[in-house]
Amino acid sequence: MKKILLTGVNGQVGHALQKKLFNYQVFALNREQLNLTDKDAIRQAVQTIQPDLIINPAAYTAVDKAESEAELAYAINATSPQILAEEAAKLNAVLIHFSTDYVYDGSKIADYVETDAVNPLSVYGKSKLAGEDAIRAVGLPHLILRTSWVYGAYGKNFLKTIIRLVSERDSLRIVADQFGAPTSSESIADAIVELLAVWQPQQEKQSGVYHFTNQGKTSWHGFSCAIVSEYNRLAKAKNGQLLKASVENIIAITTADYPTPAARPANSTLNNQKLKQTFNVSLPNWEQGLQQVMCSLE
Ligand SMILES: NC(=O)c1ccc[n+]([C@@H]2O[C@H](COP(=O)([O-])OP(=O)(O)OC[C@H]3O[C@@H](n4cnc5c(N)ncnc54)[C@H](OP(=O)(O)O)[C@@H]3O)[C@@H](O)[C@H]2O)c1
Repeated sequence: MKKILLTGVNGQVGHALQKKLFNYQVFALNREQLNLTDKDAIRQAVQTIQPDLIINPAAYTAVDKAESEAELAYAINATSPQILAEEAAKLNAVLIHFSTDYVYDGSKIADYVETDAVNPLSVYGKSKLAGEDAIRAVGLPHLILRTSWVYGAYGKNFLKTIIRLVSERDSLRIVADQFGAPTSSESIADAIVELLAVWQPQQEKQSGVYHFTNQGKTSWHGFSCAIVSEYNRLAKAKNGQLLKASVENIIAITTADYPTPAARPANSTLNNQKLKQTFNVSLPNWEQGLQQVMCSLE
């Protein structure tokens, strides 16, 4: 697998991947170079580049906005992966695609495994599931990696928002009854590099869905407290400026206290054993992922 077509390179995961895939010939395309709502452009890009592997982290990721932009969300999250898969299949190429913890409804108490029933609560979750189904229907060798709560040093994300808000405000109210695993784009990219060294696409049994998250679980409130505490620890060590609010000023609230257009699962913690057992690949604990990202922040 030498020649890779990589989408969404201005996104969190796409950006991290572009930096780490230096041992491959990567054709990295941003939205201007390949708009995934343009079916002909997708076909043309794949036919021109003739990749051995397509990695597709591009997606419509605005979970709340998707409730009022379903057509666009489905075009990017369902139709474009289908066309990428169809074009890859014509070339005997293979596909790595990203999906989401939001394919589950969150009613399970324990961590989800890949064989659990899906039941997305939101348009975003439904559109991502439709993308998974479309890839499965094409039937080429593929990996669908369900990840969760993605953040990193690059891009817009929850971590950046918390740091900004805590720098401006005395206190913050954060939801404490939704549980999952914050997953850094850096951890994802590292694990993809490991995966590429061991995946044997011709082994049909390896194709399929894998949970692909940092280990452990927390709530958005727990994640926020960890961000602030780690930020202030590093600031103290560097004699830098502490954030305005501290962990004590992060107030736990319920989902009902913070209504959003899209419903989110109460528990979307994903068990990663299948990834470990099949490929001997695992992502670090979420706290470790956070420390790595915080150390790399400007
Ligand atoms: N973010 C999360 O919390 C999260 C959670 C679970 C699963 N995931 C999944 O993980 C994968 C990677 O997510 P991420 O966090 O890297 O997302 P992200 O930072 O939002 O990046 C998404 C990328 O997709 C691109 N894109 C959107 N519409 C496009 C279009 N019409 N044509 C071409 N490119 C388009 C965006 O381009 P622009 O830069 O031009 O906007 C952006 O570069 C996605 O499959 C996502 O569904 C993410």
